[in-house]
Amino acid sequence: MPRVFSGIQPSGVPTLGNYLGAIRNWVPMQNGDESLFCVVDQHAITVFQNPAELAQATREMAAALIACGLDPARCILFVQSHVPAHVRLAWIFNCVARLGWLNRMTQFKDKAGKDREAASTGLYVYPNLMAADIHAYHATSVPVGDDQRQHLELANDIAEKFNHDYGVAFFPRIEPMILGVAARVMSLRDGTKKMSKSDPSDQSRINLTDDADSIAQKIRRARTDAEPLPSEVAGLEGRAEARNLVGILAAITDTDAAGVLRLYGGSGFGAFKDTLAEALVAHLSPIAGEMRRLLADPGAVDAALHLGAERAAAIADPIVAEAERLVGF
Ligand code: ADP
Ligand code: NA
Repeated sequence: MPRVFSGIQPSGVPTLGNYLGAIRNWVPMQNGDESLFCVVDQHAITVFQNPAELAQATREMAAALIACGLDPARCILFVQSHVPAHVRLAWIFNCVARLGWLNRMTQFKDKAGKDREAASTGLYVYPNLMAADIHAYHATSVPVGDDQRQHLELANDIAEKFNHDYGVAFFPRIEPMILGVAARVMSLRDGTKKMSKSDPSDQSRINLTDDADSIAQKIRRARTDAEPLPSEVAGLEGRAEARNLVGILAAITDTDAAGVLRLYGGSGFGAFKDTLAEALVAHLSPIAGEMRRLLADPGAVDAALHLGAERAAAIADPIVAEAERLVGF
């Protein structure tokens, strides 16, 4: 199996989107030193984070990943800033990537919003750091949600230009692994926006730590249209909110949209939402409980992360040292 790398920002509590689009798919990919999962705190500060909250969110994200099934003994689980190889390679990639390439990144446009001049330069070059995260390990398999597709194409463009400019086949091609019926979970308030932990509205997302009441309340208030559910998948066309809720239930009950519509086609959203909320509570409450148990002993979480960083650095340091030698450092 090829080496796997994936990351998640500690910019808040993980959401159902992070879980279905990414974390849940990581669990069966654990394969010792060939599988790296990273809490990317250096990405998080591309948007200002309160320092004390960032440190706590980093530990909580690690606890969430362990609670979802990542085992620090069966994979390398670590924090980005603990392994300096990432930023060393990112600097080289800042000098390889072209301005025109970054100008095409749609996530920058979404995140920077209207006042683009006020965005941090880190937010702008974030895809270069993401490319370095992966290439520092010569990882070739990257399980992410659909929102990261464009960044992975950029990571391949950077590797190709590096190899071309320095005349070596040093960085391998990356294969994105965009998995599952819920590779893009949408906001509960706006079916055109992805669900994100950094969305200002807490009503837009399900957090993995939400209790049963808030899950039920958020699902009940989730935006829908007035039509009953269709009995065929084609009937979800142009109905972003309905499609999103059907996709979530399908993912959480291990079926597909057709399977959900066989049961709920023709019914209104009331009963459907009750079922969805119950399924989410049943699935997520054991994860929240395990997170609480882990966070009762924060020292143990931190110790696991420090060990993970040592194992990660042992792989990345020689690769990045060689990249630096190729550049002429
Ligand atoms: P966020 O936007 O919630 O801060 P991150 O940038 O930390 O998420 O992404 C962590 C992982 O979660 C990535 O693999 C990303 O593709 C995935 N992801 C994020 N949001 C969603 C979503 N709404 N649906 C599916 N996957 C998502
Ligand atoms: Na993101």
